[in-house]
Amino acid sequence: MRRFLYKLSEEELWNLGIPVEIVRREGEEVVFATYEPLEGLKPVKEEEVPENWESWREGFGPIEVGKIVVLPPWKKVVFIKPGMAFGTGLHPSTKLCLRAIQEMLRKGDSVLDVGTGSGILAIASKLLGAGRVLAVDISEEAVRECGENARINGVSIECRRGRARDINERFDLVVANLEISVFKEEIGDLVKVSKGRLILSGLYGEGDLEALKGLLRKHKLRIRRIYEEENWFSVGVEDGRD
Ligand SMILES: C[S@@+](CC[C@H](N)C(=O)[O-])C[C@H]1O[C@@H](n2cnc3c(N)ncnc32)[C@H](O)[C@@H]1O
Repeated sequence: MRRFLYKLSEEELWNLGIPVEIVRREGEEVVFATYEPLEGLKPVKEEEVPENWESWREGFGPIEVGKIVVLPPWKKVVFIKPGMAFGTGLHPSTKLCLRAIQEMLRKGDSVLDVGTGSGILAIASKLLGAGRVLAVDISEEAVRECGENARINGVSIECRRGRARDINERFDLVVANLEISVFKEEIGDLVKVSKGRLILSGLYGEGDLEALKGLLRKHKLRIRRIYEEENWFSVGVEDGRD
């Protein structure tokens, strides 16, 4: 990977209006870095980034001082107002979905989030480059909170009351952090609204995981990856139809 260093005045940098990594200040000027060359600007330096750069980037921040949180520009931030709906990001099943989305989402994908709760997965998908995002939940309160969190995060997603069987479209990626009893009832509906890539989460223990594997076999779906944290499992599914 290459890193491009540029030097501009504060005002010029501000006018660029893009997130960059500030390296240092030199008087009135700012030296900053990007990982793609910037059109129309000549870098002051270009350098090869060391092999372990990615893991270093991953482990960087956040630094919290009172109300201020400092983060490098390559991180995506999701704001969630604490409320009644599930989905603050603390639960392992949510974290596993967030990890799986980063591996399975392709830029511009349409995404359906079934059981959206606070909207956390739908909002994260949008921030990570999804196109159309529809978030549904059977709880009216969750739909309201999903809408409010979307507004706080400045993203355009649709939050609607319902379940998979109420939807008449197909989505590139379907994310569902539910539970095995719901998958037993609704796996057919989830498959129907998907073009082939799904993330199914909310499985606790090997028993739930095996039960889900059985359901997937019936629908001829292939497991791409199993994610695990604290005995919670999520499954990334890909059936090769798209
Ligand atoms: C475990 S929470 C997941 C919340 C959030 N997506 C996350 O990952 O943190 C499950 C949510 O699914 C909703 N739910 C339960 N059964 C559902 C169903 N059959 N269809 C749609 N939503 C459902 C619940 O109201 C709840 O908000």
